[in-house]
Amino acid sequence: MKGFEHLQEELNQMKDEGTFRELIPLESAQGSRVTIKGKDVIQLSSNNYLGLTNHPRMKEAAEKAIEEYGVGTGSVRTIAGTLSMHEEYERKLAKFKHTEAALVFQSGFTTNQGVLSSMLNDQDVVISDELNHASIIDGIRLTKAARKIYKHVDMESLEEALKASSEYRTRLVVTDGVFSMDGNIAPLPEIVELAEKYDALIMVDDAHASGVLGENGRGTVNHFGLDGRVHIQVGTLSKAIGVLGGYVATSQTLKEYLIHKGRPFLFSTSHPPAVTAACDAAVDVLLEEPELIQKLWDNTKFFKDGLTKLGFDTGISKTPITPVMIGDDALTHKFSDELFKEGVFAQGIVFPTVPKGKARIRTIVTAEHSKEELQEALDAFERAGKTLGIL
Ligand SMILES: Cc1ncc(COP(=O)(O)O)c(C=O)c1O
Repeated sequence: MKGFEHLQEELNQMKDEGTFRELIPLESAQGSRVTIKGKDVIQLSSNNYLGLTNHPRMKEAAEKAIEEYGVGTGSVRTIAGTLSMHEEYERKLAKFKHTEAALVFQSGFTTNQGVLSSMLNDQDVVISDELNHASIIDGIRLTKAARKIYKHVDMESLEEALKASSEYRTRLVVTDGVFSMDGNIAPLPEIVELAEKYDALIMVDDAHASGVLGENGRGTVNHFGLDGRVHIQVGTLSKAIGVLGGYVATSQTLKEYLIHKGRPFLFSTSHPPAVTAACDAAVDVLLEEPELIQKLWDNTKFFKDGLTKLGFDTGISKTPITPVMIGDDALTHKFSDELFKEGVFAQGIVFPTVPKGKARIRTIVTAEHSKEELQEALDAFERAGKTLGIL
């Protein structure tokens, strides 16, 4: 079909540069082992931290919701698409997060976009960590607010930005709780101190901390004992929670404001009953099965220690996101391919997602992996590392 020639040219260029990637379909359910291209492999690239994508209690809740309420809602939340279960779930989530209120969006991405684009205008400034997630960057692009970017987790750089922001009505500091490519945790206690000193609001994106950090997986704010001192907590229901969606846990005022002004909330259909029911059951799982989080952290320690003992560089990670630093883009892809031959699915992350020279294999172990599987994966890393001269 004509009209797409310039797009095809760009794609061809990506192919020449080696940055074009095919999608890799799973031929089985998500889990610690998956089937890809007919081969049974250990999955180390999902965000299914607690293995909840297949939790029996959540599947049962979803099936029951389909039977009772059908498969869709037929409307956006603000017209005819709010089910009582949506509101019950939001109350439950707020209680879990120790906040006044919570509001669910269609995804973590649209939560960041919706919150940032609606609550700020040209009287305000947003001060953002340079390595924040794309959805924060896009949310910022959609505001008329002034923007300042501080150096990654650099508190001097943040303080400079805060000092230079006194003329604005709202100063909003925004950071990922856990950074998705390196697995390091934002220095939230220092950020809170600075924000309080300069009378700024704080927004934390806990996509990789919900279900992972804090008591029963309440997130970064709870992990640092900062409940009540962070104004906006965004999280995703698509990673550790195992389903789909995003939420903001915050004040009743911001919730009501977002219901009226948050564009993705206003203009996109609400979650199907099965999604909400499964997310609701996930909160019960977090509260009643804390051993899953314990297992996630035990597995994380086992795998990280194993990689380090083998001689791999795992960067600055403090969480289950463990990068194996390789450096060169092409070598990283080769390593990923070699791992696949050895029975492990672990995707390479290269430029432009990470800076040139910082290409890596990004691994995430889950609570579902057995020690035997993790040892099998470590053995595969060793063999592949030796084959390619990385070790
Ligand atoms: C830090 C961060 N924020 C937000 C998102 C978006 O979440 P979702 O997949 O629910 O849209 C992601 C997912 O990649 C993420 O890593």
